[in-house]
This record gives sequence, C-alpha cells and structure tokens, in this order.
Amino acid sequence: MSKWKKITVALSIGVMMLTLAGCGGGAKQETSKPVDKKIILGFSQIGAESEWRTANTESIKASAKTAGIELKFSDAQQKQENQIKALRSFIQQKVDVIAFSPVVETGWDAVLQEAKDAKIPVILTDRSVKMSNGKADDYYVTFMGSDFVEEGRRAGKWLVDFMKKDKDPVNVVELQGTVGSAPAIDRKAGFEEILKQNTNYKIIKSQTGDFTRAKGKEVMESFLKSAKAEGQKIDVLYAHNDDMAIGAIQAIEEAGLKPGKDIIIVSIDGVKGAFEAMIAGKLNASIECSPLLGDQLMSAVKDLVAGKTIEKRIVTKESVFPADVAAKELPNRKY
Ligand code: AHR
Repeated sequence: MSKWKKITVALSIGVMMLTLAGCGGGAKQETSKPVDKKIILGFSQIGAESEWRTANTESIKASAKTAGIELKFSDAQQKQENQIKALRSFIQQKVDVIAFSPVVETGWDAVLQEAKDAKIPVILTDRSVKMSNGKADDYYVTFMGSDFVEEGRRAGKWLVDFMKKDKDPVNVVELQGTVGSAPAIDRKAGFEEILKQNTNYKIIKSQTGDFTRAKGKEVMESFLKSAKAEGQKIDVLYAHNDDMAIGAIQAIEEAGLKPGKDIIIVSIDGVKGAFEAMIAGKLNASIECSPLLGDQLMSAVKDLVAGKTIEKRIVTKESVFPADVAAKELPNRKY
C-alpha cells in the first residue's frame, strides 16, 4: 500500500470510530466546549414560595460558585409564563446547559422543542414534566429530585401507624400544593394509596394552599369554619409541605384548638421550621424532601459538557422524622 493510501485508510477508520461513538445510547451530550472556557448554566427557579425553595436556591447558587460554573439565575415568581420566557432567553444566549424546576407538569411542549432544536441539553431538577406526545424522556437528559409518590405513601404509613385506629373513623383534611404541580399530584396519589387500604380514614376536605404559609393559614381557617358549620370533627391535617402546615398551625391556635393534639398534623419537607414546630409539640411528623440539589446538578452539568453519559433519573435519598426525634435531629439539619 502506498504511503498516501495508508494515511487515507487510517483517517477513514478514525472518522468511523468517532461516528460510532456519537451513536451510543444513554444521556450523552455532544459538545465542542473548549476546556478552559467557563461553563454557562441557565437556571429557571419557580420562586421563593417556601423555606424549602429558598434552601434550594441557596444550594444551587453556592454549588455553582464552588464548581466555577457561570450561573444565569432567573426567578419566575411562581408563574409558568415567566419560566418559559427565561428558558427562551437562555436559548437565545446559547448557554451550555439549561436546568429548571417546572412549576407545573404540563405546557412545556413548545419551549422544550426549541431547546432541543437548539441542541441545548435540559436538566430537570426537583420536579418533572409531561409532554403532549407522551415522550417527555426525549426532551431532557436527566431528572434529579425526590420521589413524590413515595413521600405521600410515607406520610400515609406514618399516620396509620401513629393513630393505631383499626375501625374508628378518622377525618382528614388535606392542604394540597400548587395546582397541576408534580409534588401536589404525586403526594396526593401516594397518600391516597395508603388510605385506600385503611378505609376508616376519610379525606373530608381538600384544597390547594399553593405551598405557602399565608395560603395554608387561610385555607385551614375555612376548613375549620365549614367543618364546624357541618358538625364535623377534623382529626388529622395532611399538608403537602411544611410551610402550609406552619400556616395552618396558626389558624388552629386562633380557633382555640391545640395543633398536634386536637388535630394530628403530618407534612412534607423537613425544614428547620417544621423541626421547631415538632419540638414545640405542634406538628407530629415531617417527611423529608431534600432541596440540597446544587452539588448533584453542577456535577451533572460538568459531566454533560465533558460528553460523559449521565443517569436519566437521580432519586434523592430521604427519611421520615417523627416529633420524638426532632430535638436530637435539629442541630444536624442543613435547611
Ligand atoms: O417541589 C418541591 C416542593 O416545592 C416542596 O415540597 C415545597 O415546599 C416547594 O415549594
């Protein structure tokens, strides 16, 4: 073989190998980012509706700084239209990676298609999405966050175990999270799954408190009023997050009742405010949902830009905290 023919064959093999490497499965990203350039991450946050959300924002900002990643941070003030605008602006700015925590599950079809067309990888943090074509997996590289259905189940299991009531009727009121959001839908489903196996438990009232203290208080006030007018006793409050439970505690006290005693309360998140309420005997249990996703997110961003394959689903590890462990656990809490 002549010298030139040998070089041509070697080049063709090289091209073939590169092509094959690009065809592999898994969440792998093609990138031409020079190693010395700062990675740019566009992150669209839902808002600041809860203690959890504030801790999540702090975790993302701190981890980006430590990782040396340039963070373009946008606060949507709980409005989907603001999140869509932010995502579009990240696409326009040609950021390396987009990450966001979707306020609601649906309505992302157009903007996620635009990100896909622009070849900008999208990471979902905390909450997932549903696409009209049923193929949400095709529009993001990874989803990192909690298993919300399991959190709802944990709340239900803790309650049934704590109440030890096999037959007596138990009246439950439910404060739901933001309408249409993944945690509100899933936490309801997981909790109801457990109640279906314990038919003496009945959800007598259920309404959204939008994950905020103020709304939690307002809705609990109306639950208490209408239950009184209808001659019903509220035995249990299940709140989809701690903030709504803390707001409701205030309403219960203002109605002359003892939260945690007259009404048993279980909520989700495990924020410091919930631990303080448990120590004060006003909240009976909090199911953990960790907002500390910053480090995981930054390492996924770096791996993506480096062309590495990353896991499609990263589930956060979490626990259940009943009131009797609250005093011991509070000093260890990071949020
Ligand atoms: O998506 C996570 C939920 O959103 C948290 O439970 C809640 O506190 C937050 O606002």
